[in-house]
This record gives sequence, C-alpha cells and structure tokens, in this order.
Amino acid sequence: MVKKNACVFISGQGSNLKNLINRSRDNNFPIKIRLIISDKKNAHGIIYAKKNAIPYKVINTNLKYYETLILQILKKNKISFICLAGYMKIISSNFIKKFGKKIINIHPSLLPKFKGLNTFSRILKNKEKKTGCTVHFVTDKLDSGKIITQKSFFISLNDSELTIQKKTQRLEHQAFPESIIKIFRNN
Ligand code: GRF
Repeated sequence: MVKKNACVFISGQGSNLKNLINRSRDNNFPIKIRLIISDKKNAHGIIYAKKNAIPYKVINTNLKYYETLILQILKKNKISFICLAGYMKIISSNFIKKFGKKIINIHPSLLPKFKGLNTFSRILKNKEKKTGCTVHFVTDKLDSGKIITQKSFFISLNDSELTIQKKTQRLEHQAFPESIIKIFRNN
C-alpha cells in the first residue's frame, strides 16, 4: 500500500502521537508519519519524535506569519494529511484552504457536547451520564467538522476528572487510528 505522508501537530504529552507512531509501523496502516510539529519547545511529545528519528519542528506561534511558515514546511516535506493530536492552537480558515487536504482532530468529549477547553470539569459539573472522545474533520469552526468516529463510556459515581481523563484517553488511542483507517479505506 502507498502510504500518505502525514504530519502530527502536538502541544503536550503526546500519548496520541506515540500511539499513532506505533500503529503506523504496520504495513497496512494508511499513513507514514513524516513530520511532527509542536508549538512548544518543551512539549513532552517531542521525545517520541526523537526516539523514533522522525523529523520535528518547533514553530513559535508568536511569529506573525507562523502559519505561512508551517505551510512551507508541509509542502517541502510533501505532507498530504494532518492529525491534530492535542495541538492547542486554533487553525485558521486560511490555513485550511491553503493546505487543501484532509485535517483531522481528536477531542475529549462526545461532540457537539463540550467543545473547547476544560472538558472534564464541565462534564462532571453537568452530571453527564456518559462521555467519550470524538475524531472529526477540521473546519474553520472550533470542534465542529464532520464526525468520523466516537467512542463512549458510562461515568460512575466514583469518577473524578483524572479517572475520566484516563478512560477517555484509552478510547482515544483506539478511535484515532480507527478513524484514519476509515478515511483511507476506499482511497
Ligand atoms: C487529548 O485528550 C485530546 O483529545 C486533546 O488533547 C489531548 C492530547 O493528549 N485534544 P496527548 O498529548 O495526545 O496525550
């Protein structure tokens, strides 16, 4: 299979990145991670780029033209697919238009519920019975593009923000690779 050249954008821990790197070792997995972009130089996830000898770039998002810079780097590396895995910057509509290829994001709630930040505290405060994660296409509206995969679990009385986060991440590590397989299955 001819794999798509993918870039993963991160800002933090990078557990989804780590998982995607592992999955992409499989010959039948549709993408090869050619590049990692982080907006923070001390993002823990960069360790997985180093460990796996995957090129990475830290792009300072205080720069006025940082998106133009990213677009140039993506072009140079022939990237045709982007996974946002905990990337904390909002991608502009201009970027989406100029990149012109698929961009997907993972979000720790059952969208359209709980878009944006601090999802776990809001989920608890709202006394939700169920929660989970969503993988969706990125559009210029925050956490609003077409849903590719959702996975859910029931919240128990003992759950805290931390346990909900852990359970959600476990599901994310299934949902992200499954979504990528789904997207490219018929291509
Ligand atoms: C995930 O929970 C994801 O849903 C959210 O940011 C978190 C990133 O976690 N967008 P990690 O950096 O992949 O561990």
